[in-house]
Amino acid sequence: MSSLRESFLRCLAQTSEAPIGLEIEGARGSWLYARDGRRYLDLIAGIGVNALGHGHPAVAAAIGEQAGRHLHVMVYGEYIIEAQVRLAERLGALLPPGLGRVYFTNSGAEAVEGALKAARKRTGRTGFVAFDGAYHGDTMAALALCGNPAFRAPFGPLVGPVTHLPYDDVGALVAIDERVAAVIVEPVQAEGGVRVPSPGFMRALRERAAQAGAILIFDEVLTGLGRTGKLFALEHWNVVPDLVVLAKALGGGMPLGAICGREEILETLARDPPLGHITTFGGHPVSCAAGLAALEMIVGERLPERAAKVGERLRKRLATLDARAVRAVRGLGLLVGIEFASAELARRFSAETIDRGVVLNWTLNADRVVRLAPPLTIAEQELEFALSVMNDALRAVLG
Ligand SMILES: Cc1ncc(COP(=O)(O)O)c(C=O)c1O
Repeated sequence: MSSLRESFLRCLAQTSEAPIGLEIEGARGSWLYARDGRRYLDLIAGIGVNALGHGHPAVAAAIGEQAGRHLHVMVYGEYIIEAQVRLAERLGALLPPGLGRVYFTNSGAEAVEGALKAARKRTGRTGFVAFDGAYHGDTMAALALCGNPAFRAPFGPLVGPVTHLPYDDVGALVAIDERVAAVIVEPVQAEGGVRVPSPGFMRALRERAAQAGAILIFDEVLTGLGRTGKLFALEHWNVVPDLVVLAKALGGGMPLGAICGREEILETLARDPPLGHITTFGGHPVSCAAGLAALEMIVGERLPERAAKVGERLRKRLATLDARAVRAVRGLGLLVGIEFASAELARRFSAETIDRGVVLNWTLNADRVVRLAPPLTIAEQELEFALSVMNDALRAVLG
């Protein structure tokens, strides 16, 4: 065992008993380079982070420029930081009208927490509604919203009251009533097994939340910034929520999250008491500069449209994988789920595929579903390579 691996296992608090454990030497484009000289095609892009692939020169240049100008200078919200202002302005221009107030955070979970606090403050209510299969992050309140009881149980009591409703079930939405401060939903569930809701669901949810006076939060941490074939997945459903939570691809590979939304909701964070929701590092200038450079590339290169086309072709090809093992292929854009006949098959397929040089991964709340979320820039030949590796891996698994 290499000494670095030994130190990794000894010094870092582990998140599972079986980490993938690639020793990363470098990363460029769609490829990860390991210390042992092997390279791996990255079909998960840091779990939906690296929309432009690894080491994009425009992002690297923006990071260098901002680092040369200044790093952290003050707790969030006090000084006028050009990188934050420019990114907020750009996001506001790209989101549906009325959602242009932006509060930057460090991560997705932190943005979810802030959205929940703003919703309570605005409505004076306490309740939250989330959905079975959902994933919203691992801090206490975000975890309380997660739809898999196995992950919540060891950490209770969590923030509440939270009601979990079945995803994509219009009939269940009557449970949203005047006790509910906010309803949070992923426009496509990722960890829930890449579940795309039926078109009427989000519209019915929008209507029901408005009737009940509850704030509707779209969690676009994973789906935002082009992943599903639109810049924001809300565009698929023609629905405008009250708040949108972003992270992952937002920082271009740097840590960054955001709550974007209606002025009258987010302004509540500034008073009663003032400074009642603050963060030291949220909206770090280097993250915002990297994020703006990445966003300009995503928009300028029309990567959402590309993701839609390439994703559709990819799903068609994946649907030809051996039907003894693969039960369904679904997704939107370049967020793709492959559902296997059993969790064991999904696990063995993933391990074989990674072993053969293509990295993909599981979903937390659906153990039969393997998820693909490659860079939006991935080349067609790279996907051809991935498909042939997946075919070989499946053949090996099925014997
Ligand atoms: C839909 C969704 N929401 C929230 C989060 C939490 O984001 P973070 O890991 O940055 O806290 C994730 C992370 O995977 C996510 O997929």
